[in-house]
Amino acid sequence: MDRQVIYADLTVSRDSGPESSSPSSLPRDICQGPRWHQFALKLGCAGVTLLVLAVIGLTITVMFLIQKSSIEKSSVDVQQNRSETTESPGLSECPESWQSLQKKCVLFSQGIDLWNNSLSYCSTKESSLLLIQDQEELRLIRKLMKDKAINFWIGLNFALLEKKWKWINGSFLNSAILKIKGYDEENNCASISKTAAYSEDCSTDNKWICQKERNPVINKVCPDS
Ligand SMILES: *[C@@H]1O[C@H](CO)[C@@H](O)[C@H](O)[C@H]1NC(C)=O
Ligand SMILES: *[C@@H]1O[C@H](CO)[C@@H](O)[C@H](O)[C@H]1NC(C)=O
Ligand SMILES: *[C@@H]1O[C@H](CO)[C@@H](O)[C@H](O)[C@H]1NC(C)=O
Repeated sequence: MDRQVIYADLTVSRDSGPESSSPSSLPRDICQGPRWHQFALKLGCAGVTLLVLAVIGLTITVMFLIQKSSIEKSSVDVQQNRSETTESPGLSECPESWQSLQKKCVLFSQGIDLWNNSLSYCSTKESSLLLIQDQEELRLIRKLMKDKAINFWIGLNFALLEKKWKWINGSFLNSAILKIKGYDEENNCASISKTAAYSEDCSTDNKWICQKERNPVINKVCPDS
């Protein structure tokens, strides 16, 4: 047993002995090239490595930027959605039988009455006769009117002293908002229908529209505002 093992060892060493000079001479030749050759090889390797790293780095940066911009975009979306929806929420609900119209609640009367009685009816409901801020509000209020033929008193009458149409809050009418058909004369009050605005004797019986501002809901207000 021992002899066999020794023999095997010997043959291996004998076989590999003469061969070892020829095969190992090939890689040795390459490695033994001129020094600048080796140096160039190393430099090339370093260059390739740097290039690969740069490409990886660039890819990561681009991916990061894309992700970041999409996150920013979606947060802008959320903000936009928020600002679209907060226009009416945050304000109190309108009482039963009142309708919400932007930042107001409005009530269309069932019965008819003189302008002065309409005015006092609204004040008993902690409201006033309708004031119309702009064309948009006029358009929206008209959308709520079902019957074309009905006139509703609003909070506008012809002021004796100034000889001008005056809102009940004390401001004068801007005729760009409302053109009133009929005479500009004493004891006339304004009514609106789905299609027009009229000057009528204040002692005419009409339906009317009351308004009240919707209050901000206190427990929903942001703490830092
Ligand atoms: C914002 O609202 C629009 C529709 O109004 C919807 O398509 C979009 O997904 C919403 N965005 C977010 C981030 O909620
Ligand atoms: C409204 O005017 C009529 C007469 O024009 C009068 O009888 C009535 O008392 C007035 N109503 C109010 C609330 O002032
Ligand atoms: C009175 O109401 C009119 C119509 O809504 C509005 O244009 C005006 O600014 C208001 N004036 C005051 C002092 O609130």
